[in-house]
Formats: sequence, structure tokens, C-alpha cells
Amino acid sequence: MSFQVVDHPLIKHKVGLLRRIDTSISHFRQLMQEITIMLTYEATRDLLLKPREIMTWMGPVEAQRISGKKISVVPILRAGLGMLDGVLTLIPSARVNVVGLYRDEKTLYPVIYYKKFNKDIQIRDALIIDPMLATGHSMAKVCEMLTDEGCKNIKSLCIVAAPEGVAYMNENYPDVMIFAAALDDRLNEEGYIIPGLGDAGDRIFGTK
Ligand code: URA
Repeated sequence: MSFQVVDHPLIKHKVGLLRRIDTSISHFRQLMQEITIMLTYEATRDLLLKPREIMTWMGPVEAQRISGKKISVVPILRAGLGMLDGVLTLIPSARVNVVGLYRDEKTLYPVIYYKKFNKDIQIRDALIIDPMLATGHSMAKVCEMLTDEGCKNIKSLCIVAAPEGVAYMNENYPDVMIFAAALDDRLNEEGYIIPGLGDAGDRIFGTK
């Protein structure tokens, strides 16, 4: 299964704080950023390195550098923006490729309303970010968009995942590795993750 709950006491502690109803907007944003930094650390373990000679105080030394094109981070609007600073803290030169989706009220499937991708996105590793992996339909739609552009290496980060979303992604995009901070119980009838965080976008942007 291409799914990993990143198991770390600091992540568990911070997810507990995120879940609290009395966590302020600023603290919520900060926690989301901190958790994303830890997820990014785990998701980038397999980045390739190449040796390069550098000059140091005691003469030339061989150092390691990340090789290949810069990663493209793909935040799904709007809640994905809450994780962006976390990724950019560790990978400041990552390219940012934004996708906006809304849910069609009849079909309940995601529809694209905004997309801005790098011209050479197909030669970059893509890292999709969306805090709540609920049905998995939005994540799968973005995987479809990236695959259509020719992207071969796609990973995703989320804060809380529902089993339904993990199953949908595994069925449709089994090669896309998902890194999550928590795997929750289920979805309710309105598509919210239980226990989850509530509406992540509202909590990040203070719109409630
Ligand atoms: N989106 C949210 O913001 N929360 C959920 O629980 C599910 C989807």
C-alpha cells in the first residue's frame, strides 16, 4: 500500500493540538506548518544526491548536493496553501504549481477552475499538498492532471487521511505515495473526516 502515517511523537502531539476546538487561527497555521516540515522531511528521504567539490577553510572537500530539477509543490486550493510554507521551509527553491478545484453539486466530482503549471513540470518530481484526504477525489484529479502533463514521480502530503480516501487513491493511483500525519476513522455523510479537524480551510483562513 502506498500510504504511510509518519510516526513521530512530535507529530502526534501537534495533531492533538490541531484537533482542539480552542486552538487559535495563528496557532493552527503554525502547527500545520510544523507538521508539514516533518512530513516533507520524510517524503524527501529518497532524493538523489551528487558529489561536488567545494572550497572550505582547510582546502577542497567533497560535499553532497541534491541532483536533478527542483521539486514542484502542488497545493490544492484553498486548504493546501496552509501547508505551502512548511514545504518551502525545507525546499525554498521548489516551484509552486497551484490547482483550484470545486465540487460539482450534481456529480459530487471535482471540477478544475484554476491551474497554473510550470512548462517543464513533466521533468520535475511533484509533491501534492492538501491537509484533508477525505474521499480522495480531489487528490486523484490532481494526479490525473499531473500524469496528463507527463509527470512520472508524484507524492502527496496530507495532515489527516480517511480510510476511504486512502483506498480510492490506492485503487486509482497505486504508485503515488501518500504521507500523512494521522489516519482517522471514517467520513461522515457530509464528507467530513471523523474525528478530523473540521473544515481545514475555514480554520486556516478564519472564515468561520
Ligand atoms: N475537508 C475538510 O476541510 N475537512 C474534512 O474533514 C474533509 C474535507
